[in-house]
Amino acid sequence: MPDPTPALLQVRGLRKDYGGRRVVDDVSLDVAAGQAVALVGESGSGKSTIAKLLSRLVEPDAGEISLDGVNMLEREPRGPSLSYRAQLQMIFQDPFASLNPIHPVRHHLARPLLRHARVPKAQVEARALELLTLVGLQPAADFLDAYPTELSGGQRQRVAIARALAVEPRVLMADEPTSMLDASVRMGVLGVLQGLVKDKQIALLLITHDLATARLLCDRVVVLFAGRIVEDGPAEVLLQSPSHPYTQALLAALPRGVPRQVTEGHPRLPSAAGGGGCPFRSRCPEATGQCKDAVPALTTFAEDRRVRCFNRETTNV
Ligand SMILES: Nc1ncnc2c1ncn2[C@@H]1O[C@H](COP(=O)(O)OP(=O)(O)OP(=O)(O)O)[C@@H](O)[C@H]1O
Ligand SMILES: [Mg+2]
Repeated sequence: MPDPTPALLQVRGLRKDYGGRRVVDDVSLDVAAGQAVALVGESGSGKSTIAKLLSRLVEPDAGEISLDGVNMLEREPRGPSLSYRAQLQMIFQDPFASLNPIHPVRHHLARPLLRHARVPKAQVEARALELLTLVGLQPAADFLDAYPTELSGGQRQRVAIARALAVEPRVLMADEPTSMLDASVRMGVLGVLQGLVKDKQIALLLITHDLATARLLCDRVVVLFAGRIVEDGPAEVLLQSPSHPYTQALLAALPRGVPRQVTEGHPRLPSAAGGGGCPFRSRCPEATGQCKDAVPALTTFAEDRRVRCFNRETTNV
């Protein structure tokens, strides 16, 4: 039954090919206002590409990206409008690379405020101070004239979040926002993001390798392998009883640290022509002959849970 009120961000059948390799395929997910969704998966699984496709830094080859039920790829076929770009903001992994060191914090915040005409010129400074306070940089006045080189990694990432907030986004996509930060400041930055979801009803797509972070911060978890969603569901139940063999392997690897590659063998990215069977099969303890021949569909197997595995379809509800 179709949902009468579409989620703020709805993605359907997203696909991207690079040089004959399908790096993102059949990706469908929803993120509602005030909801945090984790996108997890090992290096090369397509997480950053999905974020780039959603922000339309890169154009998808197929699929729909809808805001409030309106497919923006159709509405804005020539590329994203300024308004679209304001609504979906990215926070990148490297806070050292994302702020130009020759400009003080004041400049980094004033620019988007003026470009997107969020406040009159006379109010730029007051709004910049508000934004710095919102991300926990206090006293805000001390940070306004600081240069990025004078700030710690955690402080820079907070400035990057403040800059993203300047344009009043509805969706934040954070691509491994804390993986380059010291453990001691990670929680603070994650806390800022969590506060924005709760207090500002922002929709957060959090890209992370770290399932512990996903569990802590997110309502839902989407597990990606070789460009496709292999499992998704509510964070708590998914992480307590993972269904897909890949999710199970990811979780089993957790006590030994953050997993990058959890089982032997490289995933085979499917060719753009399709076919080739399940990309996880060479690493899968449950693989059968069927897994060589076709890619399983993403199937609902329990309330609000989907999995892409032939060996799970019997429990279909
Ligand atoms: N511009 C590009 N041209 C060609 N191939 C690309 C391009 N961008 C990404 N890829 C390929 O797409 C695949 C997915 O890359 P992506 O960066 O999305 O992975 P990721 O999940 O973000 O990995 P990581 O955890 O290392 O950041 C990889 O095989 C990568 O080599
Ligand atoms: Mg990435």
